[in-house]
Amino acid sequence: MAPLLSIEGVSKEYHVRGKNVLALDSIDLSVNEGEFVTIVGPSGCGKSTLLNLIVGLLHSSSGRILFRGNVINGISTKIGYVTQKDNLLPWRTLIENVEIALEIRGLEKSQRRQRAGDLIAQVGLHGFEDHYPHELSGGMRQRANIIRTLIYDPELILMDEPFGPLDAQTRVVLQEQLLALWSNTKKTIVFITHDLVEAIALADRVVLMTSRPGKIKSVARVAIPRPRDVYQIHEHQEFRAAYESLWRELRPEVKMAEV
Ligand SMILES: Nc1ncnc2c1ncn2[C@@H]1O[C@H](COP(=O)(O)OP(=O)(O)O)[C@@H](O)[C@H]1O
Ligand SMILES: [Mg+2]
Repeated sequence: MAPLLSIEGVSKEYHVRGKNVLALDSIDLSVNEGEFVTIVGPSGCGKSTLLNLIVGLLHSSSGRILFRGNVINGISTKIGYVTQKDNLLPWRTLIENVEIALEIRGLEKSQRRQRAGDLIAQVGLHGFEDHYPHELSGGMRQRANIIRTLIYDPELILMDEPFGPLDAQTRVVLQEQLLALWSNTKKTIVFITHDLVEAIALADRVVLMTSRPGKIKSVARVAIPRPRDVYQIHEHQEFRAAYESLWRELRPEVKMAEV
């Protein structure tokens, strides 16, 4: 079966005040339908740039990106994008924020309320439907951010360090919920993180990038069986082996990166 997403020889150069900055250099990566792929790399190695290219916000300098065999040109609702900043609208309640995409599609209120309510319950936010974003914790807002993307049913979901600003305990709770949503919905996820533990805990494959210009240094398959218990993940033999070998490869890149 053809991959859902194919990135073929993609490079991206930025032009800033007469200077050329090569952000990504010859990226090749295929993602299969239903796969959970995480991407780790030092700060500034082009991770966000890569997602912006996939979602069609930027054009590559060379190479091409295919979605179901077709070149991506422009934004499509088949690809969802969850960013680190939650972008919830402050004047709308939680449920009104979650249902926005269905409102834009013209779905009638009772139907979109039901769908939004279901997703809210799935991530443990039942009872907070009528709260405004400023009345929610960071973890709650980030859950809302994820389900407002899920609600329009994209086939591929790109996530750019979505749990980045959260504390360690909240992150684990959200990782667990994300894995449950992923296995219930059979989505394909490309997830960026700078946290190696998170990258291994979530992924079928971990893609490791070099410092800028970002290249793919290695791709490692994670052999930990599913369903996974993210609270106990570090106890797995496979986890330790993966962590040690990935950290060995990542460490020199982190040292070279401009921090
Ligand atoms: N819009 C832009 N214009 C110019 N340079 C940019 C722009 N966005 C990112 N860069 C540069 O490209 C490199 C990769 O950035 P980015 O994709 O944000 O990395 P990451 O997400 O891995 O931290 C960095 O050196 C950054 O300064
Ligand atoms: Mg980034």
